[in-house]
Amino acid sequence: MPNSTHSLFQLVLTNLVVLFLIVSAQQPQDTPIARFQRYLRINTAHPRPDYSSAISFLESQALSINLQVKTLEFSPGKPVLLLTWPGSNPSLPSLLFNSHLDSVPAESSKWTHPPFFAVRSPDGKIFARGAQDDKCIGVQYLEAIRNLKEKNFAPVRTVHVSYVPDEEIGGVNGILKFVASEEFRKLNVGFAMDEGQASPGDEFRVFYADRSPWNLIIKAKGMPGHGSRMYDNSAMENLMKSVEIISRFRESQFDVVKAGEAPNSEVVSVNPVYVKAGIPSPSGFVMNMQPSEAEAGFNIRLPPVADPELVRRRIAEEWAPARRNMTYQIIELGPLRDYMGRPLTTPTNDSNPWWPIFKQAITAVGGKLAKPEILASTTDARYIRQLGIPVLGFSPMKNTPILLHEHNEFLEDTVYLEGIEVYESIIRSLSSFEESSSY
Ligand SMILES: *[C@@H]1O[C@H](CO)[C@@H](O)[C@H](O)[C@H]1NC(C)=O
Ligand SMILES: *[C@@H]1O[C@H](CO)[C@@H](O)[C@H](O)[C@H]1NC(C)=O
Ligand SMILES: [Zn+2]
Repeated sequence: MPNSTHSLFQLVLTNLVVLFLIVSAQQPQDTPIARFQRYLRINTAHPRPDYSSAISFLESQALSINLQVKTLEFSPGKPVLLLTWPGSNPSLPSLLFNSHLDSVPAESSKWTHPPFFAVRSPDGKIFARGAQDDKCIGVQYLEAIRNLKEKNFAPVRTVHVSYVPDEEIGGVNGILKFVASEEFRKLNVGFAMDEGQASPGDEFRVFYADRSPWNLIIKAKGMPGHGSRMYDNSAMENLMKSVEIISRFRESQFDVVKAGEAPNSEVVSVNPVYVKAGIPSPSGFVMNMQPSEAEAGFNIRLPPVADPELVRRRIAEEWAPARRNMTYQIIELGPLRDYMGRPLTTPTNDSNPWWPIFKQAITAVGGKLAKPEILASTTDARYIRQLGIPVLGFSPMKNTPILLHEHNEFLEDTVYLEGIEVYESIIRSLSSFEESSSY
């Protein structure tokens, strides 16, 4: 063969081998890990989450294990998938296992593996946006049910699994509309589980409450004036006074955390997020004029034990008082109290009949639970707790760094598989619990 033909032949052959490798990589075996990777490869990141592909994948998984499937749509293009495994005693309150379909965006260029390839490294790490938050639990619920069905387990209580859109953007068109619906009321949910967070240590973490976010905007108005004049009560002066006072409050809360007296999630956190002031000019800002308006924005997180009225009063009297020509706006993102006016917490003692059953289900598979915590951030669980339904936040990921919303989010294959066993135990125990709960 002449040399050029030879190399052409080699090139074609190499390409065929590469093509074969690509094709075989795209048709992975139907294993629990492969199914997890398939879900991770569906890009449901904001701002354009592909909800329909996610729903069809989950639907086909659910049908393959004979679950009842219902797609609800409370807002156009924002489907809620509801799966049901009927119990032998449907008159008992049911169980709900919730997760969200969406995830936060990923900056591909900052990742070592593309965020929607779900690459599994040689040491077993599966890299993908959503690997921890929270596509793991979404498929683990299904795998646990698959295994229980294979073992011919039959639940007494009905088990529901829900997949909701838009958690990462506040849940207003997701869980909020779902829990307000007639369909949800008819589920007669007695106890629910939702996402938690990874645990760097050897114990599983469990969350009994979230903190509630408030956005605060404070505005100052005052006389404008020449940059050379000194006078009292300019807008900038008044805003800066407020910033100082708010900073002092922030430090007082942070000192408690630094001293180890309370975790971050149990104090009121206030973080400055923007300052808007000055009179723009083509080269930046007008420097010889004191502006007549200035504003600043803060993100506040209230633990369930905080008294929102006290915080409101503090804002009105100290942070943005009318006597300093200031006004304010509080944007509350979600509820602070349940329908009975109680803080949105789920008891983690024997006053909650579900608690000992949950705890026992963890120890039954050799797991250890850390001291129950308040989640520093927010999940959809608060909207379910608002109905008076007990909810625990739980994602079975121990010995795992907390990587939600970070670059290179990953979950180890062994941790993922162990989580399936943990949910098998949880679903088995909770769905066998026959006592009618009055909680
Ligand atoms: C409030 O603003 C007005 C004008 O905008 C000014 O005359 C007055 O001195 C200000 N008062 C205080 C207490 O800042
Ligand atoms: C259980 O915990 C709650 C707080 O969540 C508390 O109010 C209640 O007294 C506790 N009950 C028992 C029996 O310890
Ligand atoms: Zn999440």
